Amino acid sequence: MEIATIASAPIAGQKPGTSGLRKRTRVFMEPHYLENYVQSIFDGIGGVAGKTLVVGGDGRYFNDRAAQVILRMMAANGAAKAIVGQGAILSTPAASHLIRLRGTDGGLILSASHNPGGEDADFGLKYNTPNGGPAPEAVTDRIFAATQAIGEYRIAVAQDVDLSTVGTTRLGDMEVEVVDPVSDYAALMERLFDFEAIRALFAGGFTMRFDAMHAVTGPYAREILEGRLGAAPGTVVNATPLPDFGGGHPDPNPTWAKELYDLLMGEGGPDFGAASDGDGDRNMVLGRGAYVSPSDSLAVLTAHATKAPGYRGGLKGVARSMPTSAAVDRVAEALGIGCYETPTGWKFFGNLLDAGRATLCGEESFGTGSDHVREKDGLWAVLLWLNILAATGQSVKALLEAHWRTFGRNYYSRHDYEDVESEKANALYDGLRAKLAALPGQAFAGLTVESADEFAYDDPVDGSRSERQGLRIGFQGGSRAVFRLSGTGTVGATLRVYLERVETDPAGLSREAGEALADVARAADEIAGIRAHTGREGPDVVT
Ligand code: G6P
Ligand code: ZN
Repeated sequence: MEIATIASAPIAGQKPGTSGLRKRTRVFMEPHYLENYVQSIFDGIGGVAGKTLVVGGDGRYFNDRAAQVILRMMAANGAAKAIVGQGAILSTPAASHLIRLRGTDGGLILSASHNPGGEDADFGLKYNTPNGGPAPEAVTDRIFAATQAIGEYRIAVAQDVDLSTVGTTRLGDMEVEVVDPVSDYAALMERLFDFEAIRALFAGGFTMRFDAMHAVTGPYAREILEGRLGAAPGTVVNATPLPDFGGGHPDPNPTWAKELYDLLMGEGGPDFGAASDGDGDRNMVLGRGAYVSPSDSLAVLTAHATKAPGYRGGLKGVARSMPTSAAVDRVAEALGIGCYETPTGWKFFGNLLDAGRATLCGEESFGTGSDHVREKDGLWAVLLWLNILAATGQSVKALLEAHWRTFGRNYYSRHDYEDVESEKANALYDGLRAKLAALPGQAFAGLTVESADEFAYDDPVDGSRSERQGLRIGFQGGSRAVFRLSGTGTVGATLRVYLERVETDPAGLSREAGEALADVARAADEIAGIRAHTGREGPDVVT
């Protein structure tokens, strides 16, 4: 096999964000762009000679060609083996599982998650470590340093590997094993959940709609829900993955999965609704007439997890990202288990999961998961919900309302201001940071500030410290506003404002979230000057 060593030079901006490197697809397609980054990953992890890596992605535009480049570069860099999903497809949780199952040296996941796909949309690439989780900052820092020092990359001069059929082939000295992307993952789900009980639920007439949003979970959901659990054919909609996700925005929330949301909120919808994102790690869950906020979902799943066989022995602890509501905290307290608050980004859960301190984790950004893999897992959350519904015989709405009566309700909403000019967003954010110390005692929109700080996290497992992880403002009475700038965007800045208010009065549990949070939203705007800085009258997306 001929190996070409290509002279190259650092390309600015190849800094991994919250979840790997995400850029416009056309940027990734520029000469040397992908190659430089792949070589930098290899250099940043100490080379890939003799190593085995899992490779797969969410099927978006450029996924197939990028996978071939990665394979040629792995071969040229001396890798022993690549385990690749058929057609270069693997959902992010399935990739995480495969990395762990086969004891590999990690994996490369091609995805920009919930960002739109296509030649004029977004692409992404991230490295996951041997524990199956996204690389921690120490590793991504080394990768970034390698992008700034690169002088050449190595690539095999070879034809494309046939990834269309399951089986083993070679690329030079490297073995390439093409695997069915669904089967190992589906087997794992069968071990964790009571498939018999869920089958009985569907057989009894329970109805569901799963919106795969033309993204990677289509084949997984079809096989598991319709194939193994007996949900009616057609339960999974938009089930064929498309390179541009059908022109949609594959993000499972009330805005982007509006049709599903409206169906469940209206009359005559199915009993249960769910959706997942581009790469299959996010989830949205709905019951008839009941939207389950991600923060509430984590709390309810924590309260009922032991109804699923995989969690029968109890939970070791739970973890949530800082902007996620504190609903789960009270469940953890009642269960007498540990509860951790981490910065945004699934990678921060990795150490807690590895150390056996947490079993379930969740984020307000529609992510829920457990120690079965080291990524959040959309279908896993859906199956745990189904298991709980089957075990209790209750509706989603009844479960949620019972939960609020027991633990109180954390009204919660996130307001996103998207594609704000970076200077304006930074001015707002830095301005707010500068006045945090002066805020306690002041009143805004009738709410008095009790505390204001910038969140920093000390990892209890490895002692590492992560600073500048969001600005939090606590009000008297337990309401809260949190400000962050998104770390996953590809253009401009996205300002996220997270609003929360705790209600324990049984008479006040069924208000509309927007109305219950109106004063917190007003106070947040007054404090940070959102409208003044951004020129926007309101948020672009409310979840
Ligand atoms: C990805 C990460 C999550 C994170 C989310 C939002 O999905 O995996 O862990 O919560 O992005 O990140 P952002 O920085 O855009 O708020
Ligand atoms: Zn995702």
